[in-house]
Amino acid sequence: MQIKKAVFPVAGLGTNFLPATKASPKEMMPIVDMPLIQYAVNEAVAAGITELIFVTNNRKHAIENHFDSDFELEARLIECGKFELLQLVHDILPSGVTCAYIRQKSPLGLGDAILCAKQFVGNEPFAVLLADDLIENDGKSCLQQMLDVFEKNHSSIVAVQKVEQKDATKYGIVDAVDRNNKVSLIRGIIEKPSLENAPSDLAVVGRYILTPEIFTLLEQTSKGLHEEIQITDAIAKLLLEQSVFSLQFQGKRFDCGTKLGYVKATVAYALKHPEVAQDFRQVLQKYIVCSFS
Ligand code: G1P
Repeated sequence: MQIKKAVFPVAGLGTNFLPATKASPKEMMPIVDMPLIQYAVNEAVAAGITELIFVTNNRKHAIENHFDSDFELEARLIECGKFELLQLVHDILPSGVTCAYIRQKSPLGLGDAILCAKQFVGNEPFAVLLADDLIENDGKSCLQQMLDVFEKNHSSIVAVQKVEQKDATKYGIVDAVDRNNKVSLIRGIIEKPSLENAPSDLAVVGRYILTPEIFTLLEQTSKGLHEEIQITDAIAKLLLEQSVFSLQFQGKRFDCGTKLGYVKATVAYALKHPEVAQDFRQVLQKYIVCSFS
């Protein structure tokens, strides 16, 4: 059973980044020279996903345009002999990978966004990637690590990482059976618990592999925290019926849904970008010297 479909919920308003996100989607904000959404798409495509399903809204045309051909731009690049750039534009999506777009009608949260993809996903397991969570990896990507686990157990999997106890209130938190094991069955999951109610310090990061039974459970899930349909609540129901695992993945996660996380990611990626890394390192050193003198 191979996973071929991935859902990208991209209908969020991105209010953390206003005014930058007033007229352009937050998922199109670049880390150095590539939009956030493309990092997530690249991770999926490299892991063998061939059908990309974007859950959008009326303000997200730029995402559709980004993954579509742009004849005018391509013609200009050919005219100017800029063939490297032409290649770069062509390579945004390899051939054989298709995109589907569906609109989320009301801002009812992540669970509702995933439910919107039901017709496109059908009756097969699928991946969900949140572009806000940028995961840097020198080896296997987070999604690839999850797919490796899926190959063995054919069950739903959530990616998790340990967070400081005080930050548990910002995430979905799992109650893992073997907290010290990389892969563990989970026996509970709760969305943004109070500090007293957090079952552990293992926080869900924006990568999921879900079996299709999640859709029926999402349909039965009423609004939860913040009056939204929470995927976490549906997963809590799923684990009463099926095994659900957590994976403490290897890799560094940047929370690009926050300003600080976004800036940290920009610095980290600039420091390894072939075009700017060397100069940027010097610039950064100068800034550090200046700010401490
Ligand atoms: C969502 C999920 C949450 C998860 C987080 C990871 O929250 O609801 O369970 O821990 O993504 O980034 P959001 O960041 O959209 O508030």
